[in-house]
Amino acid sequence: MSKYITDAPVTEPERQYYYMERCREWLAAKKEELGRDLTCGIFTFGCQMNFHDSEKIIAILEKIGYVKTESEEADFVLYNTCTVRENANERVYGRLGQLKTIKAKKNPGMLISLCGCMMQEEHVIERIKKSYKYVDIVFGTHNIYKLAELLYTRIMNNEQIIDIWQEAKEIVEDLPIDRKYSFKAGVNIMYGCNNFCSYCIVPYVRGRERSRTPRDIIREIESFAADGVKEIMLLGQNVNSYGKNLEEPVTFAGLLRMVEQIEGIERIRFMTPHPKDLSDELIETMAASKKICSHVHLPLQSGSTRILEKMNRRYTKEQYLALVERIKAAMPDVSITTDIIVGFPGETDEDLEETLDVVRKAGFDSAFTFQYSRRTGTPAAKMDNQVSDEDMTRRFNKLLKVVQDTAAVRTARMQGKTECVLVEDVNSHDDTMVTGRLSNNTVVHFKGDKSLIGQIVNVRLDECKGFYYIGERV
Ligand code: SAH
Ligand code: SF4
Ligand code: F3S
Repeated sequence: MSKYITDAPVTEPERQYYYMERCREWLAAKKEELGRDLTCGIFTFGCQMNFHDSEKIIAILEKIGYVKTESEEADFVLYNTCTVRENANERVYGRLGQLKTIKAKKNPGMLISLCGCMMQEEHVIERIKKSYKYVDIVFGTHNIYKLAELLYTRIMNNEQIIDIWQEAKEIVEDLPIDRKYSFKAGVNIMYGCNNFCSYCIVPYVRGRERSRTPRDIIREIESFAADGVKEIMLLGQNVNSYGKNLEEPVTFAGLLRMVEQIEGIERIRFMTPHPKDLSDELIETMAASKKICSHVHLPLQSGSTRILEKMNRRYTKEQYLALVERIKAAMPDVSITTDIIVGFPGETDEDLEETLDVVRKAGFDSAFTFQYSRRTGTPAAKMDNQVSDEDMTRRFNKLLKVVQDTAAVRTARMQGKTECVLVEDVNSHDDTMVTGRLSNNTVVHFKGDKSLIGQIVNVRLDECKGFYYIGERV
């Protein structure tokens, strides 16, 4: 690159603002040439983390001058990928094939970029180099902030750019961000994961745990609050380990108390705490808080202590249930949601019964249920006794039924009550209705129009429909 650029600053984020400017000049010339705006579209797979990364990516592209679109026929198309399960992976290859046709037939100037967790896997990069030469820019989870520099290099070189880092070099602050909603925002408090649950690929593709400083986090949230944001979602793969490795260590509960002080912020959410180290300090902080939402997403994964050990989760069935009890004792209205995997190697029908037992006893408000997916490079992929597809499906269906039945009973406990709802959107099926969430994250639909979006209003919860409510504004 030094062939073309001699005056780029060496420090971040200044260097990236420099490249945004260079790209902006190039784009302005293109716009002139084509006589129209140039568009960009990003398609995101996976978790909250990835959706938040996509907001950063879009912000960089908007700064360059691209106009955001939902269309896959944009001038710059990006797929922000997930690899946590095989099916997320396959969908990306499928859609890439379709993009090739669009690029060839409709828009030869189209730029295609792949990023996100899948790109951190060697075999994926090999496949892209070999079979997907029409992909222009490939980057990973550690160098998102470099997008403008990569784009400029691609424009200047006209060849495929692949830039994947094994580890993050630094946490770059003060880059632009484009929030999907005006009233709520995600905030990374930490990156990576050190837990190495034996089935999970996340530690390999997101690297080691790194916490942002409270100062940087608070500053970002204050600027969101000044912008009208009411709800904050603090993001990390295991928020309980937040702050342990900072120069001046801070606990996650300590960070929450600082966020609580920020004026204008009315609701604080977080994802995800790990059951092995959810502290009493956190429970007390939540119970004492007016702003921290009454919701804990507490991934169970399995209810069988034998399987939990093989999963390297570091808690037992009994410890998990005792934790749920402690949380409920401190916050009787709390909702607890979870993630469960069926079909982990060596799982038997008896193990599934243990899981069902926890589901019945814990009283989850909802649960995401997954079939175990074998991820190359993880310890579980090499374990004996991989469960057959037939057993997997049978157990999955059994679990789903118990989850649905118990969740419907638990969710219905609010029936008839009047609760505060933050309105998020016009209902996607009926535009005379709006959709919002209770503090405990339960979804509510009620009569209203788009002027309510972003407001917190009182709604009577008239009818529970399993996972959600139909209500009326009062
Ligand atoms: N850090 C979070 C979530 C990580 S991924 C946590 O610890 O809970 C989100 C969910 O995907 C996990 O909770 C798990 O239930 C599921 N998951 C992860 N790896 C999986 C795999 N190999 N097969 C099936 N589900 C998986
Ligand atoms: Fe994966 Fe476990 Fe880390 Fe969650 S805590 S991201 S499941 S390794
Ligand atoms: Fe998927 Fe990466 Fe999230 S693998 S679940 S997008 S951390």
